[in-house]
Amino acid sequence: MISNIQIPARFNPPPRLLLGPGPSDVAPAVLRAMAQPLVGHLDPVFVKQMEEIKTMLRAVFITKSDMTFPVSGTGSAGMEFCCVNLIEPGDEVVIGVNGVFGTRMCDVAERCGAKVTKVESPWGQIITPQQIADALKKISKPKFVAVVHAETSTGALTPVEEISRLAHAAGALFLLDAVTSLAGCPVRLDEWNVDAVYSGTQKCLSAPPGLSPISFSPRAMEAATKRKTKVQSWYLDVNLLSSYWGQERVYHHTAPITMNYGLHEALRLVLEEGLENRWQRHEQNHLLLKKGLAELGLEIVSQAGHQLWQLNAVGVPAGVDELTVRKQLLADHNIEIGAGLGPLKGKIWRIGLMGAGSTKENVVTVLEALRKLLKK
Ligand SMILES: Cc1ncc(COP(=O)(O)O)c(C=O)c1O
Repeated sequence: MISNIQIPARFNPPPRLLLGPGPSDVAPAVLRAMAQPLVGHLDPVFVKQMEEIKTMLRAVFITKSDMTFPVSGTGSAGMEFCCVNLIEPGDEVVIGVNGVFGTRMCDVAERCGAKVTKVESPWGQIITPQQIADALKKISKPKFVAVVHAETSTGALTPVEEISRLAHAAGALFLLDAVTSLAGCPVRLDEWNVDAVYSGTQKCLSAPPGLSPISFSPRAMEAATKRKTKVQSWYLDVNLLSSYWGQERVYHHTAPITMNYGLHEALRLVLEEGLENRWQRHEQNHLLLKKGLAELGLEIVSQAGHQLWQLNAVGVPAGVDELTVRKQLLADHNIEIGAGLGPLKGKIWRIGLMGAGSTKENVVTVLEALRKLLKK
C-alpha cells in the first residue's frame, strides 16, 4: 500500500551564525559553487577539477606527495581511511588521547585489529614528546604513532614535530588528525615528516561537511601496498582509490560531485587569501575574543601556551547554567556555540572561530550576546 503522508513544507533554515566546533559558516562563494549544475563524475571537466583539487590540497597541506586527495565522507571517514590502510591485524600502534577524537581513533584502530597503546593526558592538556618516548620504549615494532593536532573537544593544540621525530626514530609512521587545524594554523606535512593525515571540510576550510582531505607519504603508501592482508574496507582501500584519483581514472565510486565543487572553491579562497594571512587572521581573532572574554570575567581553560586559535574552550562561571545560555544564544541571537563533552560536559562552552567565521564582527557579536545573557 502506498502511504498517504503529509508532505512537509520546503525546508527553510534560519540564518544561524555557526560559532561552534564545526560546521562553521560556509563562504557564500562556496555555496554558489555548489549550486552549479551537475556534470558526470568522469566528465573531462570534472576530471580537470579533480586534478586542480589535488594540486590545491597539496599547497594547503604543504606537501609534494601525489597521494593527496579528498576521501568521500566526513573527517571520521578520513580517520578510518588512515587506520584501515595502515593497520594489519596484530599491529602495535601508539595513540595520543587527550579528548574525544583520540579516544575515537583508539576505537577505530582496535576495530582494525591493532594492539593500541594509549598515551593519555587530561582533557585540555597536550600530549608531550616525553609521554610518547616513554610509550615507545615498551613496544617492539610500532606501526604508527598518532596524535590529534587540534583537539576540538578541548581546545588544545599539540606540537607535533618532535613526536614525529620520535616515531620515525622508532621505525614507526607518524599519523596526524588535522581535521580542525588545517587552514586555521600551521600544518606543514613535509617539514614535519607526517606520513598520513586526514582533515575535514567543515572547519577552517569553510565548506560543508562531506569530504575528508587526506595525504599519504611515499612511506605510508609503501606500507599500504605491501600489506599481507587485504584492506578490510573496499570503499576506503587506498589501492583502489588511487586508481580513481590517479591518472587511470578507473571507476571506483561516484564522487560526491557537488561537494567537490564546494571544496574546489573553498581551496581557491584559502590560497587567494594566502595560508599565512589566514593563520594570522585566526590568531588575531582568537586574541580579540580572549581579551573580550576576560572583560566579561571569563577565561579560556585549555592549557596556557597551547590554546587553539580556531576553537576556544571557555570555562562556564560558577552559578551559570551552561545549557540555558547556549539555548538562549540560539533562540534569541541565532548564534550556535558548542557544549563541553565527556569530563568537560557542563564545564565549558566551545566557541569556534573557523575559516570564514573567524572575523572581528563575529567576535564582537558573540561577546555582546554573552554579555547580555550573563547579565540576566
Ligand atoms: C579533531 C577532529 N577529528 C575528527 C573529527 C571527526 O570528523 P567528522 O565529524 O567530520 O566525521 C572531528 C569532528 O569534529 C574533529 O574535530
